[in-house]
Amino acid sequence: MKAPALRSILIVDDDPAIQKVLSIGLGRLGYHIHVAQNGKEALNYLESGDYDPDCILLDIRMPVMTGREALPKIREIKPITPVIMLTAFNDLATGLDAMKNGAFDYLVKPSRLEHISETIEKALKYRDVVAEKAEQDRKNEAYRLSLEKKMQSKAIELNDTYMKLKAANMQTVRALAETIEAKDQYTQGHCERVRKLAVKIATALKLPAEKIEPLEIAALLHDIGKIGIPERILNKQGALDPDEVDIIKMHPIIGAQILSTVEFFLPAINGVRHHHERWDGNGYPDGVAGEDIDQLARIITLADTFDAMAMSRPYRKALPLDGVLREIQEESGKQFDPEVVQVFFSEKLYSDYVDAGSRQAQ
Ligand SMILES: [Fe+2]
Repeated sequence: MKAPALRSILIVDDDPAIQKVLSIGLGRLGYHIHVAQNGKEALNYLESGDYDPDCILLDIRMPVMTGREALPKIREIKPITPVIMLTAFNDLATGLDAMKNGAFDYLVKPSRLEHISETIEKALKYRDVVAEKAEQDRKNEAYRLSLEKKMQSKAIELNDTYMKLKAANMQTVRALAETIEAKDQYTQGHCERVRKLAVKIATALKLPAEKIEPLEIAALLHDIGKIGIPERILNKQGALDPDEVDIIKMHPIIGAQILSTVEFFLPAINGVRHHHERWDGNGYPDGVAGEDIDQLARIITLADTFDAMAMSRPYRKALPLDGVLREIQEESGKQFDPEVVQVFFSEKLYSDYVDAGSRQAQ
């Protein structure tokens, strides 16, 4: 808090006698005094920014700009600086009116110096309280902003770490998927294409965002269980005997078991376990039907089957696209979830697959 002796008072009055009396009297009491001839000059002072009085004595009747006109503008420039109006004896109503408009108090001219000084001191105390409060508010706001900024950068950092972790996890999943493809010579690039198509189907079905990651994992790893199937069965030329078929049919269960060992994979487990289930209940390994089949699996089943039929494999050429599409349509409600088939056709999700010679997905 400033010492009273350093307080600065701006006297705004056009009457040289008043200027003199107040300047000398208040100067003796230890105030720094500045004088302005009218409201306009006072505003110029305040707007210059070089001068910041602690209190303003403002006459009401002045040429150029009256105290009444100047008051709201002063309040705007210096909202916490108290303004004491100087009113003529016969103009008390204007003084009271000025108080309604934000003046701190009013003095009737002529006033005794002692009374003027008391009023100024009250105004200065009031100003100190308001200034302290404003300063505290400013500090609180600055603290709040810096805290908010810190939290924001922390959140960005966390999100960044999460995204990196997620990318690293997905890389691991891709590496695993490639391991399966290396083992099964018929499935080069198949898992990645199934993932892409499955995500398109899920997007068309408006699946919630949190289901997309498990879907991608399940799509990439749907055949991970083939790791547990002997290569001589997987790569056998010609028909498999019934025992071999039973062994092949184990791969969704083996896959689900592998995924169950890693927490990150848990939401994807049934997407893998159910990918050979059929909507009509005639699939394997559990023979579940309809919506009892995991929704991720219902999407993957169509993507997997479509890709297997539409793409060339070493032992056979791809089927013509129109034939594949007819087959998919016919299997709606039998092998496939009708809703999945419906968006597959309505959104033309097969359009990345070109129907030419030994075709490749684009
Ligand atoms: Fe499979």
